[in-house]
Amino acid sequence: MNMETLQLNQVSKIYNGKVSYKALSDITFKIQQGEFVGIMGPSGSGKTTLLNLISTIDEPTSGEILINNKRTTGLSKKELATFRRREFGLVFQDFNLLDTLTVKENIILPLSLDRKSVVEMNIRVQEIAERIGIADILDKRTYEISGGQRQRAAIARAVIHKPSLLLADEPTGNLDSNSARNVMRMMETLNREDHTTTLLVTHDPVAASYCQRIIFIKDGQLHNELRRGENKQTFYQEIINTLSFLGGESRDI
Ligand SMILES: Nc1ncnc2c1ncn2[C@@H]1O[C@H](COP(=O)(O)OP(=O)(O)OP(=O)(O)O)[C@@H](O)[C@H]1O
Ligand SMILES: [Mg+2]
Repeated sequence: MNMETLQLNQVSKIYNGKVSYKALSDITFKIQQGEFVGIMGPSGSGKTTLLNLISTIDEPTSGEILINNKRTTGLSKKELATFRRREFGLVFQDFNLLDTLTVKENIILPLSLDRKSVVEMNIRVQEIAERIGIADILDKRTYEISGGQRQRAAIARAVIHKPSLLLADEPTGNLDSNSARNVMRMMETLNREDHTTTLLVTHDPVAASYCQRIIFIKDGQLHNELRRGENKQTFYQEIINTLSFLGGESRDI
């Protein structure tokens, strides 16, 4: 049986503005169920564009994207909305929590949209909050907690419905290095224990070194791929070397 969570075949994206711009050309890759994969590349190389296409927020100009062997292109608006909510967990740099809600209310939002029972929602939120270490702040508002706690709450919300694919765009971008490490350790644990297929976009080589494999893109094209071996430190060094070869910004190194 074919165990790919995600498959991209010859995906291209052209933005049609005043001048049209080819942000991605002929991107082809596969991600197996349970993998933890990073996407890296210089600013403007097309990473967010790629995540937007995968998460069906935007459509490719050509090529096809399959999630669990199902094409995402050509679904109706209504089908897409349900598909998106069930299949994806999304995490962003700026947390995207609703500050009129408590941490707990934020986390159960995806379940209440799917009309789960209150009992089930309470069990699930308690379980995930304990694993993620935010059980003691569930009743706080999002402005009463730290950035690291906010991002952990956002991750809890992203995984509570057990998505096929967790997509994270710079989840550590607004965090200090300590909180960033905590968030990455947590994502690594969730990936290992639940086999949640995870795709992470990051500029940070430390965050990237938690991945099992990294896909590098440059100018909208696949550049190369690195796989983590036994040693995380070696992997980190290889990431740094690739970034400096790619001509990433100096702040990356
Ligand atoms: N809506 C849009 N319309 C036109 N061009 C766009 C649009 N969104 C992105 N672009 C262009 O496409 C290219 C890729 O952008 P994208 O946001 O995917 O880069 P990125 O790799 O995520 O960069 P960063 O690391 O800075 O977040 C850039 O040149 C950008 O200017
Ligand atoms: Mg981006």
